[in-house]
Amino acid sequence: MTGKRISGIVFRMALFLGLLAGICLAAGCKASDSLPAQPSQEDLIVVGFSQVGAESDWRNANTISMQEALSPQNGYRLILEDAQQKQEKQITSIRNFINQGVDYIVLAPTTETGWDTVLTEARNAQIPVIIVDRMIETEDTSLFTCWVGSDFLKEGTTAVQWMEENLREEPLKIVHLQGNLGSSAQLGRTRGLEQGLQKHTDWEVVFRAPGDFTQAKGQELMETVLEEGLEFNVIYSENDNMTYGAIEALQSAGIEPGKDVTIISFDASSTALHMLLEGKITYDVECNPLHGPRVQAIIEELEAQKPFSKYTYVEETSFDRSNTTEQLIESRGY
Ligand code: AHR
Repeated sequence: MTGKRISGIVFRMALFLGLLAGICLAAGCKASDSLPAQPSQEDLIVVGFSQVGAESDWRNANTISMQEALSPQNGYRLILEDAQQKQEKQITSIRNFINQGVDYIVLAPTTETGWDTVLTEARNAQIPVIIVDRMIETEDTSLFTCWVGSDFLKEGTTAVQWMEENLREEPLKIVHLQGNLGSSAQLGRTRGLEQGLQKHTDWEVVFRAPGDFTQAKGQELMETVLEEGLEFNVIYSENDNMTYGAIEALQSAGIEPGKDVTIISFDASSTALHMLLEGKITYDVECNPLHGPRVQAIIEELEAQKPFSKYTYVEETSFDRSNTTEQLIESRGY
């Protein structure tokens, strides 16, 4: 392009912008009119969120969902604290939120017990507490405003029902990888399996240990199972990340996951559902992490002093190869 042509384009652009400015001036509009209105810092609702950690794909999807919903564009300032799966850290975070005078506290509790003291402090400071994902155990339900999360026992019984219907041919020798002990996700899914074991005398747990919901620990536990030479035909793994680790260990030992051993998993995150399509995971029970918009809706109801539900269980489903497709995985968003 020649210098003459460029200067011609520049001249026409300047003319166009000048005209636009003229029209705007005549109509009395400001430059900011075309931009979406941003609430000022003081108008933002401040939410302190004590997150369990970053142990799993599920957890990461959950954090993103909260950050997207409780964003400045939506009128929020989110203070996110990662507790690295430690309850002490969560208690410290909640005390910090109280000292900062946040408008709301959102707690995704590591374990069910041990919250009464700090939640009494939050109540004394008149800060509403919304519990998400897992539940807490307390005699005094006025310590929290409301709860939204999963029915983990139902997830466990869903898995057991699938095992009852689909694994009838031989006695089951089960490797049970548990989540972090005392969390609702572990307690419910373990209880579901326990109920199955009580009903079926030919079901046996040959190995059981907590893998803290992490891939590294899942792999380590599976390596132990293999080193000990235990016989098994089912792995009941209480989340997808432990499943990924177990699959690594099996493959290194020349065992074909999904073929030589049935693998039951929980969460149904997109990586796991791809593994299901490849035949490595046999059955995956969904645990829905998209709590951000739900918490946002609760806060909006509270702000508008509208009635709200104290307890909300999210809808969840489950997957095997009969109902899983690429399109479905793409459409789920986690
Ligand atoms: O509480 C939900 C559980 O916690 C998910 O199953 C697991 O992946 C996460 O770490």
